[in-house]
Amino acid sequence: MTDAAKLSLTGKELEYPVMSGTIGPDVIDIRKLYAQTDAFTYDPGFTSTASCQSKLTYIDGDQGILLHRGYPIGELAEQSSFMEVAYLLLNGELPDADQLGTFDRTITRHTMVHEQLATFFRGFRRDAHPMAILCGVVGALSAFYHDSTDIHDPAQRVIASHRLIAKMPTIAAMAYKYSVGQPFLYPDNSLSYTGNFLRMTFGVPAEPYEVNPVIERAMDRIFILHADHEQNASTSTVRLAGSSGANPFACIAAGIACLWGPAHGGANEAALNMLREIGTPDRIPEYIARAKDKNDPFRLMGFGHRVYKNYDPRATVMQKTVREVFAELKVTDPLFDVALQLEEIALNDPYFVEKKLFPNVDFYSGVILSAIGFPTSMFTVLFALARTVGWVAQWNEMITDPDQKIGRPRQLYNGPTQRSYVPLTER
Ligand code: SDX
Repeated sequence: MTDAAKLSLTGKELEYPVMSGTIGPDVIDIRKLYAQTDAFTYDPGFTSTASCQSKLTYIDGDQGILLHRGYPIGELAEQSSFMEVAYLLLNGELPDADQLGTFDRTITRHTMVHEQLATFFRGFRRDAHPMAILCGVVGALSAFYHDSTDIHDPAQRVIASHRLIAKMPTIAAMAYKYSVGQPFLYPDNSLSYTGNFLRMTFGVPAEPYEVNPVIERAMDRIFILHADHEQNASTSTVRLAGSSGANPFACIAAGIACLWGPAHGGANEAALNMLREIGTPDRIPEYIARAKDKNDPFRLMGFGHRVYKNYDPRATVMQKTVREVFAELKVTDPLFDVALQLEEIALNDPYFVEKKLFPNVDFYSGVILSAIGFPTSMFTVLFALARTVGWVAQWNEMITDPDQKIGRPRQLYNGPTQRSYVPLTER
């Protein structure tokens, strides 16, 4: 790649350095552009903008490649565990047995929440969307853990990171229990991270809860698939919030709010609702036509991606996991057949082929989560639970980045030029 990008503007010939990473597209360093040209770049949606340097996750959208610290998502999903992937994202290397054991025990011992936090739930209506509850309760964590909100103290950053990763399953399970009117269960430190979450969600005080190891493995793999994903909207939200010096709990609450959108993490809930609305394979052509109709706002939820212009590698693993969970639970779901046929039809339709629209991570996840017993309203909560690992790792990377400064984009202003105030009596 050239070592400089040339720009000719307002009679000036300017050069901007081109920076290369280890893999992936080069970047043009335009940090001096405004000072030298009095002009901004214009990139709504940041389709051509690198906001930071990162070592965490690499995506090749054309090849459908996703690496976490260099390890392919398919290998991690098959051979690793969510706790091990969390350690990898936070520390940069796979842990040895002692390191993993210590990390796992540390996270386990942070799974309880302050007892007063339980009263927060009482303020919500029972039919509150669990994501609304999650936004509120996670934001409130900063009111309980003042001793880990100094972002300039590395020790406090580590404790806050561990607290967030450890407490998300507890809070997510509490949000579900509150919505179904059942009592909260305390964490059980004898269980795995994911087994503990399943028990807090589906267990009841009236009887013992047996964690199904196949479901535990499937859920842990689903968490791995959702752990991190480069500079997606919610991760960028966490980084932007963190760039102001806000405490980590507030930053993660901001990420949760952004993830909730149906164009982002809310798509898993929207995709299953879409499959339910389609209902039977014979109605697929009607919905494909609607998705292609410019005058119809309907989109195939769980399809398309800003970066992947090939099959989302996470969707491949997700589809395989559906078959495993169905075999274990000895269930079928006609919506899975609708999803498979919808994918088949869409991937042979010129509209989707030309626009390179493939199933993404959200297309099949709802079918599995529904089979395991989660209501649709919990799907994005589960996405947020897993993505907390990525958000926390990205937040830590941002805080320690020497290039980091408060995020403050500019604009192309096309509003009224200056004019004088007109008193009410003269309007
Ligand atoms: C996630 O960024 C990440 O990494 C996110 C994520 C993560 O792990 O963090 O991967 C998780 O958010 C996955 C995406 C979940 N969202 C959905 O499934 C919602 C449905 N998908 C779309 O809304 C859309 O594909 C986006 C939002 C995902 C991506 O949108 P882009 O990149 O801004 O693309 P676009 O909206 O400009 O679409 C390009 C074209 C448009 O047609 P034209 O105007 O060019 O004619 O493709 C069309 C769109 O109309 N299009 C679709 C479509 N997605 C895009 N048409 C029908 N159905 C769709 N799903």
